Amino acid sequence: MNLFREKSNLIVKLTNLKKNNFRIGLVPTMGALHKGHISLVKKSIKENDYTIVSIFVNPTQFNNKKDLNLYPKNLTKDCNYLDSISADIIVFAPEISDIYDKKVSAKKFNFYDLDKFMEGRYRKGHFNGVATIVTHLFNIIKPNNAYFGEKDFQQLRIIQELVRDNNIPVNVIGCQTIREKDGLALSSRNIKLSKHYRKIASKIYEIINYVRINFSSMSFLEIYTYVEKFFDNIPEIKLEYFTIAESKILQPVKEKIKNKKYRAFIAVRLNGIRLIDNMELN
Ligand code: PAF
Repeated sequence: MNLFREKSNLIVKLTNLKKNNFRIGLVPTMGALHKGHISLVKKSIKENDYTIVSIFVNPTQFNNKKDLNLYPKNLTKDCNYLDSISADIIVFAPEISDIYDKKVSAKKFNFYDLDKFMEGRYRKGHFNGVATIVTHLFNIIKPNNAYFGEKDFQQLRIIQELVRDNNIPVNVIGCQTIREKDGLALSSRNIKLSKHYRKIASKIYEIINYVRINFSSMSFLEIYTYVEKFFDNIPEIKLEYFTIAESKILQPVKEKIKNKKYRAFIAVRLNGIRLIDNMELN
């Protein structure tokens, strides 16, 4: 395992690799790795000469201290997991002080309203924190390709825009959401669910998949009413939002326009654990 805890050491290693024109793939993570992360890692290994997995629980993207403290951390387990995939993977797991110096704060970005709804609305400042750390990682690692899961679709769109807007020379590659057998999207937070809540969590997939299947035959009013009633009957799940938005600009829509693509976005809480998901509708 090639574990780097300091950016200066990683930069030396990367400078040598780049002299040989090796292609570098980056998979940014906050650790607690699962099969979803591994699918990104495997794609990166296929498409690059070297793959770097960053493991850093980024404090500036949490607007809730409790959520930050609850975030699962186990670097040794993550490193062993990555080692079982390939001993060539480079892990970058810096300390907060190595990334942020003295001021642990997010920069302010213009996301052209991509952050106005869904996660951006319910987690104030979240995307400034994400963009801050991703920009740091891009500056340190200068990868050719960077891999992000579609489970965080709004994050993916925002990073694509960040790269375009700032002319950052990296290909941002979106990767399909990986799901459990019952449809629940893989997430580091799933391990926090008790057996009872884990079973109920499959309802998130059930409802968005229902919306996907019936999207062409139902009106928006029918869909929103159906979703509200669906959750009224499941007291264990607190619906934070359910939104249908246009896939590119991420603005919520009330009626369908021909040739536009739409996605359903959802965020819920189960016993305090916040889970999100989304799905393409057409
Ligand atoms: O999606 C995540 O795990 C995080 O938001 C990311 C991209 C690693 C930035 O901290």
